[in-house]
Amino acid sequence: MNPSKSYKIAVVPGDGTGPEVVAEGLKVLKAVGASQKIKYEFVHYDLGGERYKKTGEILPDSVLEELKNFDAIYLGAIGHPDVKPGILEKGILLKMRFELDQYINLRPVKLYPNVPCPLKDKGPQDIDFVVVRENTEGLYTGGGGFLKKGTPDEVAIQESINTRKGVERCLRYAYQYTAKRNKANKLTLCGKTNVLTYAFDLWERTFNELAGEYPTIKTDYVNVDATCMWMVKNPEWFDVIVTDNMFGDIITDLGAMIQGGMGIAAGGNINPEGVSMFEPIGGSAPKYTGKNVINPLAAICAGGMMLETLGEDKAAARVEAAVIKLLESGKLKSLDAGKMGMSTSEIGDWLADKV
Ligand code: IPM
Ligand code: MN
Repeated sequence: MNPSKSYKIAVVPGDGTGPEVVAEGLKVLKAVGASQKIKYEFVHYDLGGERYKKTGEILPDSVLEELKNFDAIYLGAIGHPDVKPGILEKGILLKMRFELDQYINLRPVKLYPNVPCPLKDKGPQDIDFVVVRENTEGLYTGGGGFLKKGTPDEVAIQESINTRKGVERCLRYAYQYTAKRNKANKLTLCGKTNVLTYAFDLWERTFNELAGEYPTIKTDYVNVDATCMWMVKNPEWFDVIVTDNMFGDIITDLGAMIQGGMGIAAGGNINPEGVSMFEPIGGSAPKYTGKNVINPLAAICAGGMMLETLGEDKAAARVEAAVIKLLESGKLKSLDAGKMGMSTSEIGDWLADKV
């Protein structure tokens, strides 16, 4: 917590419905700020598809340097229908994660009351775990290349880079997070030790070595395929799951679905020693742009995660409590865009009034 209680937040609304959900998130952040005496200085950045189309700029180095001076970054969505997939995702989202060394991707998977869940006979008491995804290494480093591209003898190599330092800092964060969360005090390593015998050998050895330093945490190991199976069949078995970048990307989309969908799933890209970035994990949903029908709850929950990471636990708890109250009220007919029975801005207004 910052003693002056004023935070410098960079706001990157981004593409598609990003600006609409960010507007509601800011509304709620300002309202809880007023009630909890937290001040912010918001600085908006127009990174995204439109700026790229107009100027050719993706994420200029000067902007990246400026971003290093903020307490946090609040992001809407990146991805534009007129821009080839990959350019903005890699050039903005992944570049920020890498350059700001946001080595943790934190994704809570929590089913709130009254939220439809696709799993039969599972309720909020069963679905409440957190995925700690490594966020700067693995298959995402871009290592590899082509040989004889475009010929019948073509070879494509995509390397997974796992460093002892990168693996260890991620595992340490996961152990400490599990202890702080203090729910079941159980940390599950999700890997593939039966096939990926180098990468996950390093992960498993480091995981087991560190276990001795965190005697209050129970440890468990599950292969990634089985993790998918248990997330559907027995999600109540999980407390905190730690995994590499690629597996984490995949299992957290599954996680988002069992907690009610992209409308509610939030994530944090965290550098515990630096500048972290918070985002709704869904995309820019171009077809819903400007219609006031997109669900802002994921962005609002991402704002709550931002407050928690800044040390404003009380304000974060108020945001979550308001979201739960809205869900319990039955006012929302669905969490899916266009079927909510409330508009994007009505949801923001309702929550701003309650926090
Ligand atoms: C995510 C997204 C990104 C990822 C994409 C947009 C590059 O899917 O945040 O999970 O793969 O990490
Ligand atoms: Mn993803």
